[in-house]
Amino acid sequence: MADIRPLVAGNWKMNGLRSAVAELDKMAATLKENPSKGADVMICPPFTLLMGVAKTFADSGMQLGAQDCHVNVSGAHTGDISPEMIADTGATAVIVGHSERREDHAEKDKLVAQKALAAWRAGLTAIICIGETEGQKRLDLTLKVVERQIKNSLPEGATAENTVIAYEPVWAIGSGLVPTVQDIKDVHGAIRKQLAGILGGEGEKMRILYGGSVKPSNAKELMSVDNVDGALVGGASLKAEDFLGIIDAYRS
Ligand code: PGA
Repeated sequence: MADIRPLVAGNWKMNGLRSAVAELDKMAATLKENPSKGADVMICPPFTLLMGVAKTFADSGMQLGAQDCHVNVSGAHTGDISPEMIADTGATAVIVGHSERREDHAEKDKLVAQKALAAWRAGLTAIICIGETEGQKRLDLTLKVVERQIKNSLPEGATAENTVIAYEPVWAIGSGLVPTVQDIKDVHGAIRKQLAGILGGEGEKMRILYGGSVKPSNAKELMSVDNVDGALVGGASLKAEDFLGIIDAYRS
């Protein structure tokens, strides 16, 4: 197996007023003092906080990401943010194709692939999210769905450097439910095989994160599953204590 440096990324979703920057400061201060040697750490706050927190992050070793982007560089797209604007804040990554975007904004695989390409154009890493719904799982379609999503939302030119895959079963997001270790192992194994088949060595090295109800109490077990190269964390990334507790899975 390739030697992969894991990534623990926090997705703040539509949460975080200026008062929440105190939590980021706490995370940054702790990580500056006691760096996470075993994994990269990233926070993806809402756009409104990105610019303001870039400085705090600069010397903490924490990385900064955004949660979505438009496909164009600039233009008449009211309310949208381009990857170039995200890069301009000091952020280095952007999540694309999160299931909440797919659901709330009817985003399809093709658009997700275009967003990933746009992210690369601006020099950002694209964190491409995939995962089955509860209904699809019930019908035993998980592997089929995930395979189709990778095939259609991963653009040509993907490398271990410019792309991270996040497997997030939709039914596990924010629900407190997590798949069994065996199920995660099977899905991540299938994703790895597919990535290696399409991309060769780059696919062997590409990070595959698990996301969906990751907490300090289950992080160690989930992060030790084969082909799980870190986590995409929602709710538990909002509080420094919880997020640092998850990062601890890589400290001991
Ligand atoms: P959760 O969200 O950790 O709150 O389940 C994960 C995600 O949606 O990225």
